[in-house]
Amino acid sequence: MSEKAKLILQGKEYEFPVILGSENEKAIDISSLRAKTGYITLDPGYVNTGATTSSITYLDGELGVLRYRGIPIEQLAEKSTFVETSYLLIYGNLPNKQQLEDFSKSLTMHSMIHEDMKHFFDGYPAAAHPMAILSSMVCSLSAYYPESMNVFDNFDMQVPRLLSKLRTIAAFSYKKSVGHPVIYPQNHLSYCANFLQMMFAVPAEPYEIDDDMVRALNILLILHADHEQNCSTSTVRLVGSSQANMYASVSAGILALWGPLHGGANQAVIEMLESIHNSGTKCADFISKVKDKNSKARLMGFGHRVYKSYDPRAKILKQMTDVILAKRGISDPLLDIAKQMEETALSDPYFIERNLYPNVDFYSGILYKAMGIPVNMFTVMFAIGRLPGWIAHLKEMMEDPNTKIGRPRQIYTGPVSREYVPIESRK
Ligand code: ACO
Repeated sequence: MSEKAKLILQGKEYEFPVILGSENEKAIDISSLRAKTGYITLDPGYVNTGATTSSITYLDGELGVLRYRGIPIEQLAEKSTFVETSYLLIYGNLPNKQQLEDFSKSLTMHSMIHEDMKHFFDGYPAAAHPMAILSSMVCSLSAYYPESMNVFDNFDMQVPRLLSKLRTIAAFSYKKSVGHPVIYPQNHLSYCANFLQMMFAVPAEPYEIDDDMVRALNILLILHADHEQNCSTSTVRLVGSSQANMYASVSAGILALWGPLHGGANQAVIEMLESIHNSGTKCADFISKVKDKNSKARLMGFGHRVYKSYDPRAKILKQMTDVILAKRGISDPLLDIAKQMEETALSDPYFIERNLYPNVDFYSGILYKAMGIPVNMFTVMFAIGRLPGWIAHLKEMMEDPNTKIGRPRQIYTGPVSREYVPIESRK
């Protein structure tokens, strides 16, 4: 693109190239700014900063569009599986029949964790949050695979190993938290069916796979599989940019995901709905509270850094939630509160003016709850879903010859140079 951006500083004019993405997204390339001018840009929360170019996910927050490798999320949710979508994200294209078979087979072959690692679970207190266990376990995997200290060492083995083992670790941590014996993966089951049986089977009884539950889980994981440069993905990229290994980078991503403003929001949504239900708070009163800046309360599951219209993932989940609740004959008062809350918020000028709509987490918590997944496992589910996105970004970054170690700058606002004062002379 020949368009240039001009910047005038202290009377001097500088030109910077304008970059155009494949969906006409525009950016000013300021990579030479400091060298040319001595200035840096200041952009708290990176709201205007593109850290990279990327060909993985496209999203348009104003129009509510989300596509993985060009394919609309609605089509993937309807027609694909989580395993196929993972392949698409990581390798760039939908797999052919043979590629999908091989990929699925390697997921099956890597589903066990080293027996020694099982003892790690015993070291955690019963009340430990499964995200703490998950992140430490993933980092510990690096101790078992010292031959994979570089992202591209046996990449095609590291990918299924991590995807498959994360699911096993997640299910084992749940079983440990409820004091049940762990259930091993079974090779004849699909990725999602296997997770459900590891979570819910008990040794004494046969476990029957429910196809609707398997479908719902596939959809949930597909919808969470990538969301371009979000907090956890940016963390994975930043850690990976130091050439840390894949387990270390993903473990850092899991920790970034844990916070209630990111992946922890689905747990926060259920806790919020439960507290409204238990206290008998009126929906309108709660909405007034979140609008009051002094209260510091937020309507969890509402608002998004990028989506300024209805999150397309929330739409799909809302429908799936109704299907599972009807199928399982569950009438959930929390769902009624959620629907009432959504209706009230969407017609309130505070939310309209600020473009605050339900995000993916508004309904994912209710769906997980309907599927029998406990609240403290919600963010773990998000991590299982987001893993292929993290790996895809790590791969893309490491393949890019222009990648540099991530190292933002700052504008210093502390004291200027001053002398050290001995303790006896200090006030
Ligand atoms: N409830 C009430 N007010 C809100 C909410 C909310 N959920 N979200 C934003 N606002 C208000 C803010 O108070 C602010 O108002 P002001 O302009 O009067 O000061 C305005 O809307 C803009 O909010 P910011 O926090 O500046 O928006 P930002 O883009 O930085 O934050 C975020 C996005 C963190 C997601 C925010 O909307 C939020 O906290 N939502 C609730 C938590 C949540 O659901 N997180 C999940 C995100 S999706 C995901 O990670 C998968």
